[in-house]
Amino acid sequence: MNKIIYLDSAATYQKSKKVIESQVDFLRGGYANAGRGICARSVAVDNMVGYARQRVADFMGAHPGQIVFTSGTTAAMNMIAGMLGLGGDKIVAVSDLDHHSARLPFAKSLAKTIVMPLNEKLDIDINQIPYADVMVVTAMSNVLGVAQNVPEIVRMARNKNPNVVVVVDAAQYVVHEKIDVQKWDADFVVWSAHKIGADTGLGLMYVKKPDAYNPVIFGGGMVNKITNGEVFLTPGPEKFEAGTLPLTQIAGVGVAIDELEKNRPDLNLIKYMYDQLSMLPRIKILTRRDATVLTFVIDGMHVLDFGARIGARDICVRVGNMCATWIHNLMGVPGTIRLSVGACNTMDEIKYTVQVIKDIVK
Ligand code: ALA
Repeated sequence: MNKIIYLDSAATYQKSKKVIESQVDFLRGGYANAGRGICARSVAVDNMVGYARQRVADFMGAHPGQIVFTSGTTAAMNMIAGMLGLGGDKIVAVSDLDHHSARLPFAKSLAKTIVMPLNEKLDIDINQIPYADVMVVTAMSNVLGVAQNVPEIVRMARNKNPNVVVVVDAAQYVVHEKIDVQKWDADFVVWSAHKIGADTGLGLMYVKKPDAYNPVIFGGGMVNKITNGEVFLTPGPEKFEAGTLPLTQIAGVGVAIDELEKNRPDLNLIKYMYDQLSMLPRIKILTRRDATVLTFVIDGMHVLDFGARIGARDICVRVGNMCATWIHNLMGVPGTIRLSVGACNTMDEIKYTVQVIKDIVK
């Protein structure tokens, strides 16, 4: 092997030739702003944005009027927390599966945060869903890689409080499983385009009832008219999209979805590594065999030392707390090593990686 082996697709996915070409074509031959011009090129960009919104909506089982372009999952979560205007009388339920970006925008509001219990398998415990005004559901932990039963969690949450606002972080889930917002019945579902092979700087936010919320970011592109000092906002998702959109990223997202739907990461690669690494006495695997990632610690070796040693052999993995401190605290480890795969990986690479790991921990 004389090339980099990239086993960090859960952090960000490699970009395919087709995605890169769609962005380059736009930059080279189609570039203009959206929603701001009537020349042919501007109209073509409006159409491109409209197509992408429709494609994302179809992908999630939504209506295009429910799809908002943001700059990422983090921005979307912060927007939602702001839009809900949470006062001190509100209860926000979170779980230890959360990424920092899913929990902190709500935990830093005035609302009271409560932590939903996980069961012995470290899934959200369906039998202990609490009463909440807002519930943050991590559909798949970036450390444990197991799909949560979102429809059932939402159903139980609505049994406790029919008015609960459910916010789903689907940033990891979207890569491996189909999102169906009709089945999920959540109020917000967010994910980042770069996780599926489109570019960084684009987030996708599904809003079940866009008319029920007011934006928290104001600027150009969201104003219908201003009369006698009164501002009337554009109806529909554009009211949440003040400022120029990340157009180049939007040019690539439809292609990335097409490719993901044809070719999701091959989880047999994870299973193979699980079977091989579970035979090594110094390695303690913290994930299930059927998880979408393989996360482990090594007896007597700091995760950063492992990261440096495997990195020196041209293999990229993620080490550290993965921006998910709570699940690490619960498991009693400060950090972990995570192997994740994407469409770019082959079985030969995986076999070589296993040999390298055996060599490092021998
Ligand atoms: N949230 C990303 C990860 O899990 C960056 O690595």
